[in-house]
Amino acid sequence: MRAMRIRTPASVEGLYLDRADAPPPGPGEIRVHIRAASLNFRDALVVGGVFPARDGLIPLSDGAGEVVAVGPGVTGFAVGDAVVSTFHPTWADGHVERSELTASPGGPADGYACDHATRSVSHFTRAPRGLSHAESATLTCAGVTAWRALVTDAQVRPGATVLVLGTGGVSLFALQFAKAAGATVIATSSSVEKLGKLKALGADHVINYRETEKWGEAVLALTGGLGVDHIVEVGGPHTMGQSCIAARTGGHIAIVGAVGGFDIDTLPFAIVQAKRLRLQAVTVGSRRDQTDMVRAIEANGIRPVIDSHFPLERLGDAFRHMQAGGPFGKICIQL
Ligand SMILES: NC(=O)c1ccc[n+]([C@@H]2O[C@H](COP(=O)([O-])OP(=O)(O)OC[C@H]3O[C@@H](n4cnc5c(N)ncnc54)[C@H](OP(=O)(O)O)[C@@H]3O)[C@@H](O)[C@H]2O)c1
Repeated sequence: MRAMRIRTPASVEGLYLDRADAPPPGPGEIRVHIRAASLNFRDALVVGGVFPARDGLIPLSDGAGEVVAVGPGVTGFAVGDAVVSTFHPTWADGHVERSELTASPGGPADGYACDHATRSVSHFTRAPRGLSHAESATLTCAGVTAWRALVTDAQVRPGATVLVLGTGGVSLFALQFAKAAGATVIATSSSVEKLGKLKALGADHVINYRETEKWGEAVLALTGGLGVDHIVEVGGPHTMGQSCIAARTGGHIAIVGAVGGFDIDTLPFAIVQAKRLRLQAVTVGSRRDQTDMVRAIEANGIRPVIDSHFPLERLGDAFRHMQAGGPFGKICIQL
């Protein structure tokens, strides 16, 4: 097995290639030839030492590939099946306790920057038919998070209005799922070029959040003063004020991330209260969310947006490409 590992103190420069024997699957386990992985914002935090990581950890929460061996007692998987990894292997469905959300691949557990992985069956679901391994490898974190936010929690309906912020992995999936659900989508970006790509992907309206500082007011104007029904909030405390302005009375805001930084800690309480806003935080999603999303991707012919591919040995370059801020779509690792 080839694997990229983190040397502590963690840094992109400290990533190193390692070789080891891949164990055969035990009872209830499958061995997967990982053919592709993808990078998420959180992986950069793990590799950069912002999230704690043990020495030797294999990073990357998202992997996809083909089952090559099946252990005793395994049902539901067979050799040759195309599979995609799960973010919370012990969260099957419904309510989950915080204590059950602590073993995510890519940190603190080993992830998928490796060409073989032997894991219990709960670490994988089937992949969507018709997608490449790289496309499937984009789904675990960003795809399931967008699905959870808009479909499981928000129950987005045809005719609803949805606001997505920036062109990160979660936001592009949110745009695609919202359009598949029949919603009108308003999307933002700091880049003129990316605004064009958002339109090509189906966004009905786009706003440059760098040029239009009060983009919440611009969203209100686009919705006849009403505001949007749903917002997938990936910006964090720095964007929350404008998001609350952009929301409709009784609107739903999925609290997902903080690409704008955590360095302030404020909630626009008065607007939240006056508009009766519904704030629902998201921690990726369950196995059920993932299997529902896989079916929806097949039914709607959705193709994940991929920016670029890097070989495993160039994982460090992949992170540097991500941090340069130019990508539109997921950065994938080919194995
Ligand atoms: N809670 C959860 O379950 C969960 C799951 C997944 C991710 N997350 C979090 O959600 C966030 C997004 O994750 P990701 O993987 O999609 O990130 P990503 O792909 O790294 O997103 C990068 C994009 O964010 C956009 N951005 C940066 N600053 C912004 C701002 N001030 N306003 C609006 N957009 C801004 C930029 O878009 P433009 O270049 O177009 O301007 C940039 O391209 C991260 O904070 C991540 O940790 C949370």
